[in-house]
This record gives sequence, structure tokens and C-alpha cells, in this order.
Amino acid sequence: MNIKERAASMAGQITQDARKYIAGGVVSLNRKVEPNIVFVKGKGSRIYDSEGKEYIDYHAAFAPHLLGHNDGRVNEAVIQVMNEDHSLFGSGTNALEVKLARLLCESVPSMELVQITNTGSEATAHAIRLSRAWTGREHIILTLGGYNGWHNDVSRAVMPALAQIGPRIRAEEYPFVPSSAGIPESAKKLIHIVNFNDLESIEVVMKRYPVACVLTEPVLQNVGIIPPNEGYLRGIIDLCNRYGAVSIFDEVKTGFRSALGGYQGIAGVKPHLSVFGKAVANGFPMGVIGGKKEIMELFDAPDPSRRVLIAGTYNAHPVNAAAAIATLQILRDTNVYKHLDNVCGKLYANLEQMFLKKGKTMVLARNASAFCMYFCEKAPQDLHDILLNHDFDFDLTFRKALINRGIYHIPIACKQGSVSYAHSEEDIDRTLEVSWDVLKNM
Ligand SMILES: Cc1ncc(COP(=O)(O)O)c(C=O)c1O
Repeated sequence: MNIKERAASMAGQITQDARKYIAGGVVSLNRKVEPNIVFVKGKGSRIYDSEGKEYIDYHAAFAPHLLGHNDGRVNEAVIQVMNEDHSLFGSGTNALEVKLARLLCESVPSMELVQITNTGSEATAHAIRLSRAWTGREHIILTLGGYNGWHNDVSRAVMPALAQIGPRIRAEEYPFVPSSAGIPESAKKLIHIVNFNDLESIEVVMKRYPVACVLTEPVLQNVGIIPPNEGYLRGIIDLCNRYGAVSIFDEVKTGFRSALGGYQGIAGVKPHLSVFGKAVANGFPMGVIGGKKEIMELFDAPDPSRRVLIAGTYNAHPVNAAAAIATLQILRDTNVYKHLDNVCGKLYANLEQMFLKKGKTMVLARNASAFCMYFCEKAPQDLHDILLNHDFDFDLTFRKALINRGIYHIPIACKQGSVSYAHSEEDIDRTLEVSWDVLKNM
């Protein structure tokens, strides 16, 4: 057997064992895609599969790797806390979590106090619970086409079929389409789905039900990239103030990819609460919840009947805290955003030109280093625009052809592309060259 054959046989064995031992054959079923590639290494802008093939990565594990895979400075910080015998003491305060909390509060002006979890889903769950405790109400409003994690309170389908939600409606809520079996009816009844960029529907639901919170991504980034219309985010906060509800911005994807202050910093607004994750620790597990002092203080309310439980054996584990501190310091103190602007500018402009030259309709939607190519006439404003107009077949075929040629976009239509600080001008040139080779033959 030569090296290539040995590698192929190893990959085959891993796939076989995966099917034998893991329910569904892959951990986190959102990762179940075709082609199913076994990756074994990630460094900078590149990932490598078990057969030794190299890819320029635009998936970034659903977006956390803002600095690239295995950034040396972040790894060094992690290795240092291990060498210094930091441990998960699980008792009292530790110095790293305090340093991290301070950095977070200094970075995002709306965060007067923070708490730390291991995932974005935990953070959205805590934010919703806080809003219920604060308001004494139970109903919640979520946006169509958004994703906020896997738990019951947010368990609506991200990309339901048109037949399930019906035509676009205004001043009304959409039918609830679950993302999972096993969601109690009692939980479904409390969730109200309204269109993104539609303040009128939020107000209608607020008049109809006692609403605890409006939870939305400030930019919809789980169906590509759909930015908020002018005034939409401020409008949500104003409505929440008027009706006594809590505004929660889910910045798990937008946070720190857009800017150090999150997308809310760019929009110049301050939600009551916000949730961060992913890029905050450049690929190490972390979720953050933060916001107004008086609401966050419910985590330690003197009255036990008002106190909101936050607990987690591994919350602010020193390894993750060290990674997040290093990441935030790099984002704050170095030229990450400038470099990203440069490489993204080059990538986006040339992709647009390339499709023009080919005569294939494409709009490139972007939010800083996150982008999505929609194959339709106009940038979508909501999920209906995507479902009605996007060329899903072309999208998937294009992604798979790029993967074949060593450019990795996850093979799921409309998933965002993520550029990292590790992507060099040469990476972009190579990406463009391959993209054109693929496109011109389609
Ligand atoms: C906007 C948004 N919120 C929450 C989550 C959940 O985060 P996690 O997967 O860390 O639980 C995600 C994950 O993709 C997300 O994109």
C-alpha cells in the first residue's frame, strides 16, 4: 500500500467506526453533510483531511475561527495556563474569569455585567429565563430564519419550507415549525415567530400576549446574511421599552466578527441583554451573556423567588477563558479588522465581477468577514425572498465543485462563508482562480 492508499483506508475505517459507534455517524447532527470528509488538522486558513488533501477553509466550523485555526498566540495562552497549573477549581472566583469579564464589559458598551457559559445555546437559554424572571411573563418573540440554539425555547426550524409557513404576512405571526421532535406543546405555545425586519408584527404580538422578550440575531446569519433595515434594531428596543419586555440580541455569530463592540456597536444601539459565543474564543467553547445591571443582578437576587439559576461545572474553564482573553486582546490591540477588510474587499469584488462575466445572477451579501452568495436578482430581506428566489441547486452544486478543488464551503445551501485573519492575499487569489475554473464550466 502506498501512502495515499493507506490514508484512504484509514479514512474508510474512521467512517465505518463512526457509523458503528456514534448515533447518526457524526457528533452534532448539524455537521451531517455530503461529502462527509474526515478532517484531521487545521492551521491558519487551511484544513486537511485524512487523505492528506488540503483545503482553504471558508466554513470555519460554523464561524468561530475568526483568527484562523490554531492561532499561535491563542494556543500559547492556553498552553501557558496549563503549564502554570491552572485548574478547574470549581470553587470561588478565579482570576482568569474576572479578567475576561472585564475585557468583555470594556469591549461591548451594553454589557454592564456578564456571565459565562460553554455554548451559545446555554447563553440564549439563560437570557430568556432572565427575561421571564424580570418581567414575570412567559411568551417570547423570535424571528423567522433565525437560529438561537437547540433548546426548547428556541426550537423553531431555521429554514422551513414555504409550504409550512405559507406566504409572507404582515402584522401577524407565522405558524410554529419545530426544529426537533420532542418539544412539549406547552413550550411551543409560548413561542411567537415574526418576520425579520418587521416591527409591526412584533407590536401585534406584544398587544396580544404578555411578552417577556424579543430575541433575534441582529443580522440573520444562519440563512446566509440578511442585515437589519435602518431603524429595525432600535425599533425592537423601543418596542420592548414601551411594552415592558426585554430585547435580547443574539450576537453568537455577529459578535466580534463585525467589530469588537459587536454588531450592536456598528448599529449604535444597546439592547437590554446580549449573547455572544463562537469568535469570542476563536474556536474554544464559550458563551457569554451580558447586559443591563439590574436584569443581570437577578442571577444573585437576594429574594430567592426572583433569583435565576446560572450554573455549569465547566463555565469559564481556564483553558477556554485563556483562549477568550487572548482572542479579545488580539482583536483589540492588533490590525485584525483592517486585514479582514482588505482581503474581504478583494474577495467580494472579484467574486461579483466573475459572476457578471459568466452571466450568472449572483448577489453577494456581506457583514464584514461573513458573506453569502445568493443566486437571485436582489439581496434577500427575509426568508421568503430566499425560499422564493434563491437557486438552491446551483448553490449546492457550486459548493461541492469547490470542495472538490480544495476550497471548503460547507455543502449546505445559504450557509455563510467566513473569512479569517489567517486568510492571506494569496489564499484569496487561489480561491478566485479555482472559483473561476469551476464557474466557467458550469
Ligand atoms: C446565532 C446563533 N445563536 C446561538 C447559537 C448556538 O450556539 P452553540 O452552538 O454554541 O450552542 C448559534 C450556533 O450556530 C448561532 O448561530
